[in-house]
Amino acid sequence: MHSSTWKSLLVLGLTQLVAESAAAPTSCPQPRVKPGRAIYITSNEQQNSIIALPIGANGLLSGGTLTSTGGSGSSILEQNGNVKAPAVSDVLSSQSAVTVVDNYLFAVNAGSNTVSMFAIDPLNPTKLTMVGKPAAVPGDFPVTVGASAKNKLICVGATGAKSGVSCAPFSSKGLGQMDQLRPVGLNQTTPPVGPPNTIAQVFFSEDEKTVYASVKGDPATNTTGTLGVFAVEQPCDGRGAVAVSQEGKLNHLDETVVLFGATNLKGSSNIIAADAAFGAVMLSVDTASGAASVKNVVDIAGQKATCWAVLSPETNTVFLSDAGADRLVEVSSTDGSIKSVSNLGTNDPGFNDLKAAGSFIYALSPGNTTVGPAVTVFDVVSKKVAQHYQLKGSFATSKVQGVGLLV
Ligand SMILES: *[C@@H]1O[C@H](CO)[C@@H](O)[C@H](O)[C@H]1NC(C)=O
Ligand SMILES: *[C@@H]1O[C@H](CO)[C@@H](O)[C@H](O)[C@H]1NC(C)=O
Ligand SMILES: *[C@@H]1O[C@H](CO)[C@@H](O)[C@H](O)[C@H]1NC(C)=O
Repeated sequence: MHSSTWKSLLVLGLTQLVAESAAAPTSCPQPRVKPGRAIYITSNEQQNSIIALPIGANGLLSGGTLTSTGGSGSSILEQNGNVKAPAVSDVLSSQSAVTVVDNYLFAVNAGSNTVSMFAIDPLNPTKLTMVGKPAAVPGDFPVTVGASAKNKLICVGATGAKSGVSCAPFSSKGLGQMDQLRPVGLNQTTPPVGPPNTIAQVFFSEDEKTVYASVKGDPATNTTGTLGVFAVEQPCDGRGAVAVSQEGKLNHLDETVVLFGATNLKGSSNIIAADAAFGAVMLSVDTASGAASVKNVVDIAGQKATCWAVLSPETNTVFLSDAGADRLVEVSSTDGSIKSVSNLGTNDPGFNDLKAAGSFIYALSPGNTTVGPAVTVFDVVSKKVAQHYQLKGSFATSKVQGVGLLV
């Protein structure tokens, strides 16, 4: 495109902005944040698939596509007395079973120990094309994947008998070889018995210079939550590949119990992480040493299992979802204090993963044996449910897990 064309488009954009704000002089200006374009969920069935749903200009969802991952889903086991049985919902007990960066999507296959990579068609974001073949994870039961566009790296958390964090480079041709597992202090089986004592999430820091792994402790054995911190190392001679350090720091955080999904906060190395035992914590991380500590404990009254966290770009606050409650809790990204509690009234038994874009939260309810899975679109400004989109089809069972989002 000619630079003069760019300029006239730019001018056109500016004129529109001015015209819109002039047309509505009495309304409060809302920050302009990019709306979402599509969300992605794994079916986590035996033949795992990605359910892709387009987001309209109004932020609402409509019917989309189903694309096979070429791998298998699975379920953790839950122990009731002496009986171990596959979990009915929240079957991976993780955040980020599917992750999007740039126009790429990554999804874990817990039952086949692989991770799949797809290219997203930017003109038609529910059209996914697999890139290369699913990559073998050198661990068992991968449940979460973090990705860095800057470093062209992914890191996967495997939480079965062979557990830890394994990373691999990616390119437009596909995934490279996954590297040696970084242990996170677990001693599990395949499938793992959880939710306690399993990996919750692996994700990159906001500046993408650090990889975090949040690991659940176990109240039954007084094991605390752990945050693993691994540095991304640039090659010192400018040659060779960027890689994630094998030498991480495992921070055992005494104030935490069932440390779960987390979100980075803007412009700091602080994190807000859910804790299924009581609510959430705000963590501060010294990325130079890898040391993490608890800054604030957020007790959420009446919570059942607060497990997922997302930062809304519209409000710069964090929304937490609960596996056992039909509500969202909003906390401050400055100190973790509770800003609002929204009872959604959707009759969902609870949520698992969630994402934010524009002025909306997209929260996935897996349902249960009697209530079907659904995505609630929640307006963070009005604090109202904008849409309750029910997933229908043979792929839509309570095994659905993970929410990825393209902006
Ligand atoms: C791991 O768990 C198994 C079975 O519970 C036990 O026999 C083994 O000693 C444990 N290993 C470690 C390193 O704790
Ligand atoms: C856990 O800690 C509590 C309080 O310190 C103690 O009473 C209990 O025996 C401990 N349980 C285990 C399994 O170590
Ligand atoms: C499923 O969820 C609904 C709504 O929360 C609840 O009323 C129902 O008892 C649940 N069913 C089972 C079998 O747990």
